[in-house]
Amino acid sequence: MKNQKEKIKKLQRVVWAHYKKNGRRLQWRDTIDPYWIVVSEIMLQQTQVPRVIEKFPEFIKAFPTFRELATASDTAVLRHWQGLGYNRRGLYIKRIAEIVTKNHGGQLPQDRATLERFPGIGPNTAGSILAFAFNLPEIFIETNVRTVFLHHLFPKKIGVTDKELLPLIEEALPKKRARQWYWALMDYGTFLKKQFKNPSRASAHHTKQSKFEGSHRQVRGATLKTVLAGKNHTAESLSELLPFELRKIQQALDELFSEGFIKFTHGRYHN
Ligand code: ADE
Repeated sequence: MKNQKEKIKKLQRVVWAHYKKNGRRLQWRDTIDPYWIVVSEIMLQQTQVPRVIEKFPEFIKAFPTFRELATASDTAVLRHWQGLGYNRRGLYIKRIAEIVTKNHGGQLPQDRATLERFPGIGPNTAGSILAFAFNLPEIFIETNVRTVFLHHLFPKKIGVTDKELLPLIEEALPKKRARQWYWALMDYGTFLKKQFKNPSRASAHHTKQSKFEGSHRQVRGATLKTVLAGKNHTAESLSELLPFELRKIQQALDELFSEGFIKFTHGRYHN
């Protein structure tokens, strides 16, 4: 595309300008402690920022480090997870804390492949953790990031896939300032969503989502079929393949597992 470079330059200017004026100060941005980052990123996967602002300090106070979370009981963890929803995520974090403590000397590994093998962490969460904790120039997509790129680069096009967006996200990323850049993108994406009624309409993921509306039967059927096809999956990896919301996929997985249709080992679903 002829103007692509200029459009990306403009996007960068707008995002930084918005951040200078309106960047949010959030508790989990006042630290580069990888533990805080992991906890906040998992909370933020499916819970809105205002709710996480309320719950995050309480959770961190109860379990201040990987080590303390690893030795807590499931019941205690779930009690402090209350109000965030999708309890399985609380148990995932505890499991992550156990793995970090036992296998990595209490230090979060700084590589994508290892993080992606942790329960509750898919490619996008691995990317966000690495960018925020270690300032690594990782490429990932998230709802607000998607909004920014669609709004600026595909204002009229329908059916844009994340696969098309990823190279553009890579091109726009200032390699030495990944941490701040992604904060800025998320803040600007949140702002755009408030300004425009439906800024994600151009996304293939969005249109498919509204087309199917994800009736429970459809989500369940597609989820089962995909898991039985052979690969190990997490709810997050499935949500990248299927046009349904993560929480609906998780609900279907919980059901299919408890009814014995699929198995669940080491944080992954499989046949
Ligand atoms: N700041 C750091 N991570 C974030 C996220 N996932 N959503 C919003 N703000 C954030």
